[in-house]
Amino acid sequence: MTANNTRDDWWKQAVVYQVYPRSFKDTDGDGIGDIAGVTEKMPYLQALGVDAIWLSPFYPSELADGGYDVIDYRDVDPRLGTMDDFDRMVAAAHKAGLKVIVDIVPNHTSDRHRFFREALEAGRGSAARDRYIFREGRGEHGELPPNDWQSLFGGPAWQRVDDGQWYFHIFAAEQPDLNWKNPDVREEFDRTLRFWSDHGTDGFRIDVAHGLAKDFDSRPLGELGREYTVQDQSNHDGRNPMWDRPEVHEIYKEWRAIFDEYDPPRFAVGEAWVVPEHQHLYASPDELGQVFNFELAKADWDAGRMRAAIEDGLESAERSGGSTSTWVMNNHDIPRSATRYALPQVPARGKHRIAKDWILRDGKSYYEDRTLGTRRARAAVLMEMGLPGSVYVYQGEELGLFEVADIPWDRLEDPTASRTSRNFADKGRDGCRVPLPWVTSDEPQPADWNMDFGQGESFGFSPARKAEGSASADPHLPQPLWFKDFAADRESADGSSMLSLYRTALRQRAKLLTATGDYTSFDWLGMGHDVIAYTRPALDPDGSPATFASVTNFGSVPVALPKGSVLLASAELDADGRLPRDASAWLLLDE
Ligand code: NOJ
Repeated sequence: MTANNTRDDWWKQAVVYQVYPRSFKDTDGDGIGDIAGVTEKMPYLQALGVDAIWLSPFYPSELADGGYDVIDYRDVDPRLGTMDDFDRMVAAAHKAGLKVIVDIVPNHTSDRHRFFREALEAGRGSAARDRYIFREGRGEHGELPPNDWQSLFGGPAWQRVDDGQWYFHIFAAEQPDLNWKNPDVREEFDRTLRFWSDHGTDGFRIDVAHGLAKDFDSRPLGELGREYTVQDQSNHDGRNPMWDRPEVHEIYKEWRAIFDEYDPPRFAVGEAWVVPEHQHLYASPDELGQVFNFELAKADWDAGRMRAAIEDGLESAERSGGSTSTWVMNNHDIPRSATRYALPQVPARGKHRIAKDWILRDGKSYYEDRTLGTRRARAAVLMEMGLPGSVYVYQGEELGLFEVADIPWDRLEDPTASRTSRNFADKGRDGCRVPLPWVTSDEPQPADWNMDFGQGESFGFSPARKAEGSASADPHLPQPLWFKDFAADRESADGSSMLSLYRTALRQRAKLLTATGDYTSFDWLGMGHDVIAYTRPALDPDGSPATFASVTNFGSVPVALPKGSVLLASAELDADGRLPRDASAWLLLDE
């Protein structure tokens, strides 16, 4: 158990590992990861050195959006297990010294949720419809949607139902948005938060935390539709009708009272893609307590951008009056960092556009320099892990996995792909959601070196299918054959692998930095524009106060390191002890 896990504020410096359950580990051979798989891999997670796991949704779902379309918030999808499996998993995590965080999806339900079925049955004007956002359409017979808003997954943001009314959905049509002015909706989530807390859950990740409060009534929808889009999530003037509205904070103040009913209080982190200056509002101790800062994930491989991302994160934590910074390089919505850093860096193209274009063209439009991508991803993780606050690691990141761009279109699951239209071309997020490789298959590989298409042994993701007639199904997304080079067993045995770097870095982080209990002190170390260097208070191996430094070289020439002892480096130093390009080092500085 690490020092910070013994206190109520364990989350302030926690390293949280995100599990995308359907792609983590399959124990029953149906090709879909399950809760028992998380339990089975608890020793792996413990050895990795993380403090907590966050599970993406594992609730009953039609999988219109990878589980973010929830049919029942207080149960486990039968394909993933049972509530007993969940309780066993929590017990195993706690025994291993790990906290458990579950995902709450309050902006929308599945269209199969009881609320929505009741809304359809009850008809227009009913109390059941008031739980969602139903409106009459435009045109002589209401045949046109209330306005022209487009959903975030492409296609109209309004869907018509049989009796002619329309309902609003930010995401897929199978994800109707809830009306948070309705008391039943509030009650449903109050119950849900208590339900999972009573089952031993230590915290919550709040999906689309900036989207719940909507004001579609103060002004005609047609007018709003001309002024605002669903896509523009900024709310500088406080008037955006759906994103980052001030009223959303009332909801979280109420939730805080629920979190505080428990001892220790339950933790929450909000997913809010808001401008950095608004992040702290969600992270306030009266509300969720913490918020994701996605600025590192958005930054190209560029010292200036990374520095600004770090500054934003530190500032936002300071403004929140009690929260800590969060550092995110990957999650299940973002092209994997090892690939992002392997592609051309063209900051002007905007958020992940190069990677998304590359994925859209099945990985053929740009050269993916994997050696460079790996080298930079190694450097990035040291830069990130030394920072004050919490770090979120997405499954497979610790193996250095690349994005799988060439999943055949007919195997894709993400709705962004199927909703692709002339105006909205996006192959989606499945490339970072491919089931993990756990063991290196000894099976002879097919001559076609492109894709497995599920004919192989799934690299230990599902139970082996060696016996004739064995039942294991193909992994739900196809694994490429190159996954074998990234299997956890192989990397575990290789001291120079990404996994070994993560393990060592996490161990050192816990001993040197987390153990000080100081999760705010931070100073830049000026080493020129192309170098990101900073210092923090630390404990040396004897437990005496010391000064830690992290140095990352983004430039093209090696740089001399400050005087001190090097603890860890992401690449070999040159013959003169200098830090080469695209590399990081950790040091304890000489007094
Ligand atoms: C954010 C989640 O991370 C993403 O995967 C999902 O599609 C949307 N919210 C909608 O729930």
